[in-house]
Amino acid sequence: MPGAGLILAIESSCDETAAAIVQRGSHTLSSIVASQISTHARYGGVVPELASREHLRAIVPVVRAALAQASITLADLDAIAVTSGPGLAGALLVGITYAKALAFATSLPLIAVNHLEGHIHAVLLNEHETELSKPQVSEARPGAPSEEESALALVVSGGHTHLYLARPTADTWHYSLIGRTLDDAAGEAYDKVAKLLGLGYPGGPWIDALAKHGNPHAVHFAFSQIKTKLHLAGKAPRTKAAKTAPIANLDTHFLFSFSGIKTAVLRYVELHDLRPEAESRREALFTGPDAPARPTLEDALATCSQATLDLIASFQHAVIGDLMKKTFAAAEFLAARRILVTGGVAANRELRARFTAEATRRDLRVSFPTLALSTDNAAMIAAAAWPRFLNEEFAQSDLSADPSLALGA
Ligand code: KG4
Ligand code: ZN
Repeated sequence: MPGAGLILAIESSCDETAAAIVQRGSHTLSSIVASQISTHARYGGVVPELASREHLRAIVPVVRAALAQASITLADLDAIAVTSGPGLAGALLVGITYAKALAFATSLPLIAVNHLEGHIHAVLLNEHETELSKPQVSEARPGAPSEEESALALVVSGGHTHLYLARPTADTWHYSLIGRTLDDAAGEAYDKVAKLLGLGYPGGPWIDALAKHGNPHAVHFAFSQIKTKLHLAGKAPRTKAAKTAPIANLDTHFLFSFSGIKTAVLRYVELHDLRPEAESRREALFTGPDAPARPTLEDALATCSQATLDLIASFQHAVIGDLMKKTFAAAEFLAARRILVTGGVAANRELRARFTAEATRRDLRVSFPTLALSTDNAAMIAAAAWPRFLNEEFAQSDLSADPSLALGA
């Protein structure tokens, strides 16, 4: 059984090297995130080989910083947790190899955590910390899941757009896949649209900030194309995001598809001759000799015509509308009273406002992580590891990276 219940977690599945110390899955002592954004920005997306190299550089100082910020040493820990998938194989391996070495050297148990489960626990960690959910903490097993935490979870990030029903059982969490994207993840659509509009990487925060200056009803984007994709049922998934979960037996009402809207934006840009504006914006903000070191929203606004701002606002409005429609339909279908929205795109302001308003209208509870816990971090991995620690679900020494690791059934 736990001493102080201190878990060191390591996360390196994509482009952030992160380490955190969390006590009993509910109290964050430290959370360090070394972002690689500046490395990948000039390529407009994550370059896997560069990601592995940057993780190798950052992992030791990041773990040291997490221990130092928590004012503890390795000897104070009860376990080491690490993301084992899904994610980039080489990137995951850096974290796993280091975590295994630490566990071996300290004789501590090693806990493998699914990155998607981590995103779900980001919200729970947040709620435990702010005592919003007031979980019934059992004295014998502090931090063990409680029935009232059952929720429909939308994990919406650069790699995933997945809906899960997350249910606590006596000791641990059980996840059922309810829906997922057939192709691009929502964050991927944000990033690709931002790239074609000459905005920086990652594109989500740019679109989030610029959207409020445009008319969200100026361009109508339909999501009807999802129906034409149903022939994919039972076939091998085409994308990295889709590989993490089989499609069979899913209700087609809860499937997402974001590759169509990306193409529709591209067509709109061509048709309305917005490409030259996008190219000059890229040069003015990011690639040109006079580009500012850190472009601001004002810099970006100065380069955007009203037509582009309207396009950005309409794109965002449509994507969020689709996420809402399917999530609330699934909540109704499953009689879920509680919704968690998590992952990088959950940082979006319009998303938070519209999900909150709709949940209020339907008398449901909706929760989001703090902004820092929305994007990739290791505190969420430590929180997800805690029930596994209580259950002594430890990884073997042959633990390896699983880039397509699925969550739940
Ligand atoms: O969860 P995350 O850090 O990494 C993955 O697991 O993918 O999510 C990163 C994604 C990127 O696609 C980024 O553009 C998007 O989250 N994102 C946002 C916002 N902040 C980050 N999308 C929309 N609005 C935002 N404010
Ligand atoms: Zn993530």
